[in-house]
Amino acid sequence: MSAEPQTPAKLQVDLHVKYIQSLNTKQDDLEYWLSEHLRVQGIYWGLNTLDMMDHLDALPRDDLIKYICSCQHENGGFGGHIGHDPHIQNTLSALQVLVTLNALDSIDTDKVVRYVASKQNDDGSFRGDDWGEVDTRFCYIALSICSLLKRLDAINVDKCVEWILKCRNYDGGFGNQPGAESHSGQIFCCVNALAIAGALHHVDRDLLGWWLCERQVKNGGLNGRPEKLEDVCYSWWVLSSLATIDRLQWINADKLTAFILSSQDLEDGGISDRPGDMVDVFHTNFGVTGLSLLKYPGLKAVDPVYCMPQYIIDSLGLPRLHQCNK
Ligand code: FPP
Ligand code: ZN
Repeated sequence: MSAEPQTPAKLQVDLHVKYIQSLNTKQDDLEYWLSEHLRVQGIYWGLNTLDMMDHLDALPRDDLIKYICSCQHENGGFGGHIGHDPHIQNTLSALQVLVTLNALDSIDTDKVVRYVASKQNDDGSFRGDDWGEVDTRFCYIALSICSLLKRLDAINVDKCVEWILKCRNYDGGFGNQPGAESHSGQIFCCVNALAIAGALHHVDRDLLGWWLCERQVKNGGLNGRPEKLEDVCYSWWVLSSLATIDRLQWINADKLTAFILSSQDLEDGGISDRPGDMVDVFHTNFGVTGLSLLKYPGLKAVDPVYCMPQYIIDSLGLPRLHQCNK
């Protein structure tokens, strides 16, 4: 006799709000201090989740703005926490928080643009910081920042596209550098960078869509590469890429929805990488944004290119570069 499949719980909005609110009160936990370098990104993940669930006011707006501003350096870049070195990744998160809070006027955005432009190499790629690491993540980040600030003119977009295309593989996917294996996180970066650059015509949508939908495993979850374990965050990296290339329908949405919902902590809130694991705010954000792409009831629509609520991207007057909500 086979057991009936269990129906997963609904999305626990109230618990997730409480979980996100609790994150800044855990100063007795070692983990709080060990994750100091992730504070600015953590605020973006938490605030984005709250906004998607229509609870933007659950965190204190003025305190957040003050804190984010205090992470900006003289050169325009933002660190992951007060006094931490600037990095292009924290700079995007800081900007996303300020855009979400409608507080861009609290910083000098020209300085941010100059910082980002200063990170471009002659071959079109971007460095993440002064140490010089190069990765397709940084191309996406630079394009996203300049697009949100309507300053794509400040960087060499064509050269960047040229470099991203060098990171494309025979399977249709992209890696973090030329010759590196395809990885769903890097595919998110490359596909959406190409979307921002107006260069999506370079993508073979059927070939890439096939590779991406092959990421769904038996229990409905998605992995990031062949033979890897399923993980809730790939509900975002894979689905948003599929949404941008108009192949979202190639995934079994019901099974993926059930997988994400079964990764919730039903006592204390938050979502983990897979059922039974410890929750964190990163997977909570990407679980909820993934559910939004799957049209889970009650969630705001998310823009797959920017990973922010669609209403914010629309209100900035930016075009929809994806095929959702046609
Ligand atoms: C997987 O990382 C994810 C990526 C490589 C993509 C990261 C993308 C950015 C930092 C750009 C900004 C993103 C947004 C949403 C605005 P991992 O290190 O967890 O990979 P693993 O699963 O192989 O360990
Ligand atoms: Zn993950």
